[in-house]
Amino acid sequence: MSSNEMIVHAKEYIERKLSSKPSVGLILGSGLGVLADEIENPVVIPYKDIPGFPSSTVAGHKGQFVIGELEGTTVAAMQGRFHFYEGYPMELVTLPVRVMKEMGVDQLIVTNAAGGINESFEPGNLMIIKDHINMFGTNPLIGPNDESLGVRFPDMSQAYTEELISLAEEAAQKLNLEVTKGVYVGNTGPVYETPAEVRMLRTLGGDAVGMSTVPEVIVARHSNMKVLGISCISNMAAGILDQPLTHDEVIETTDKVRADFLQFVKAIVAKMQ
Ligand code: 6GU
Repeated sequence: MSSNEMIVHAKEYIERKLSSKPSVGLILGSGLGVLADEIENPVVIPYKDIPGFPSSTVAGHKGQFVIGELEGTTVAAMQGRFHFYEGYPMELVTLPVRVMKEMGVDQLIVTNAAGGINESFEPGNLMIIKDHINMFGTNPLIGPNDESLGVRFPDMSQAYTEELISLAEEAAQKLNLEVTKGVYVGNTGPVYETPAEVRMLRTLGGDAVGMSTVPEVIVARHSNMKVLGISCISNMAAGILDQPLTHDEVIETTDKVRADFLQFVKAIVAKMQ
């Protein structure tokens, strides 16, 4: 099956279960999937039931689409995503973005838990992503280009849509939330970085580092979607504090900022319609 046929098959399977078309997509990162519980009249579709989708995910992630109304807008939320470190090829990591686009989603909010590289950050901060650095050592667009999906050489000079960044900043201000802005570095994982790597990434201009988001954003931009990225700084990256990094800390911190995160994304979606 061609990748285009895979996209259309998955889209048709999902659309048969829906009564209205989503216009906003939400990719919910580690510990942030609770946002999907706020969706009204939800249609829940496990990834394992969707033709062409892989089935397994990591601890702290569910694996399903939740599609319904959020703040009066029909959204398609991904509770859990496919990570490159799980061994999935880039084509599968980014397949859900292609499928969302095919369903009519033209604005995408991508979220993640990330380690703070910028020493002025603190665990629990929310960071609007203003740009990224791809350190995956590969790219989801490598291979023949399907011109019906996007151009061969996509422009990445505004990967994160300025208009959505402004809208998010306004939402934060209105809610009295302190939100930072910075550059997200995407690494493959599954290891966290060494202190030397964290110093290198800081020198290169990174503010936060994680194991996702970059592939999905590249494909979203190839598809000409507008993109907003939000990182939850779950911990400081290695070598900044005198303590080891654990996945438990990531989950603990995201538990603490959950209320802020929910409020923030809901206010953004309310402004997007
Ligand atoms: Cl410190 N690094 C990476 N690569 N991903 C993370 C992280 C750090 N903290 C949460 N996710």
